[in-house]
Amino acid sequence: MKRQPINRYLIAAVLCSAASSAWSACDFEVQVDDAMAFKVTEMAADKSCEAINVTINHTGQLPKQTMGHNWTLSKSADYQAIAIDGMNAGLENDYIKPGDERVIAHTKVIGSGESDSISFSTSALEAGGDYTFFCSFPGHWSVMRGKFTVN
Ligand code: CO
Repeated sequence: MKRQPINRYLIAAVLCSAASSAWSACDFEVQVDDAMAFKVTEMAADKSCEAINVTINHTGQLPKQTMGHNWTLSKSADYQAIAIDGMNAGLENDYIKPGDERVIAHTKVIGSGESDSISFSTSALEAGGDYTFFCSFPGHWSVMRGKFTVN
């Protein structure tokens, strides 16, 4: 009778690790809508990935001019400055200053019903490094962001 809770625990652990290994991988799908938020707040990638692929989907009703979102990745120390510089770059540049070398990767800004995908090498990423993914749409970066870890 004492074994049952242990078995239950093991099953939960197996399910849990299956779920996290599916997410700690090379391919990611990120959902956004009319809220200033990503549906995920943490993403974990593997340094051994040949490439990291990120797809962003906007399932909201609002166009990119009013509730646009992109997925931008940088070192955590850089994201605020990137977003502030990006504000002046405008929607035509996806709110990223052209040639900004602090940006590791970014998608286009998308609105209702749109999606965009990017693929980038892990060569610029260090295992254990401190990275942040964020939306560089003006005003969004302060709340619309999450932690990106590399294992
Ligand atoms: Co946004």
